[in-house]
Amino acid sequence: MSLVKIIEFPPLGDERGLLVALEVNKTIPFDIKRVYYLFGTKEGVSRGFHAHKALKQVAVCITGKCRILLDTGKEKAEVWLDSSNRGITIDSMVWHEMHDFSPDCVLLVLASEHYDETDYIRDYDDFIQEVNG
Ligand code: TYD
Repeated sequence: MSLVKIIEFPPLGDERGLLVALEVNKTIPFDIKRVYYLFGTKEGVSRGFHAHKALKQVAVCITGKCRILLDTGKEKAEVWLDSSNRGITIDSMVWHEMHDFSPDCVLLVLASEHYDETDYIRDYDDFIQEVNG
């Protein structure tokens, strides 16, 4: 299973403009329990720096761009999120960091679970230990 799972959102726009629909079990491979978005990220600030034990997420920059680092503890990948037509899956047990936010960036995240601080692994060494069983 590849670490980088890009989801191309079908373009539904027409001559009037653009439209993207995100629908459970069509475009999004889980039931969405929560939606949040990061915006107004200050210059030079990076976010994330955690993994989730169970949570699955799909992230899309609906405006602007940022760079996401995904890390399973065994494999790392970096992807620019710079299209409102394309999302990236952040699986459980994937350390992720978001860098280089453009000032206009709105990063929309669809999440499979409600917010739960106990699902977070916020220490990289703990994450590596957990990955290695
Ligand atoms: P956090 O997950 O630490 O942000 P980052 O993406 O940079 O790791 O979240 C920042 C704060 O917001 C933290 O106090 C937890 C809170 N929060 C919620 O209450 N609900 C949510 O859905 C999210 C994502 C965060």
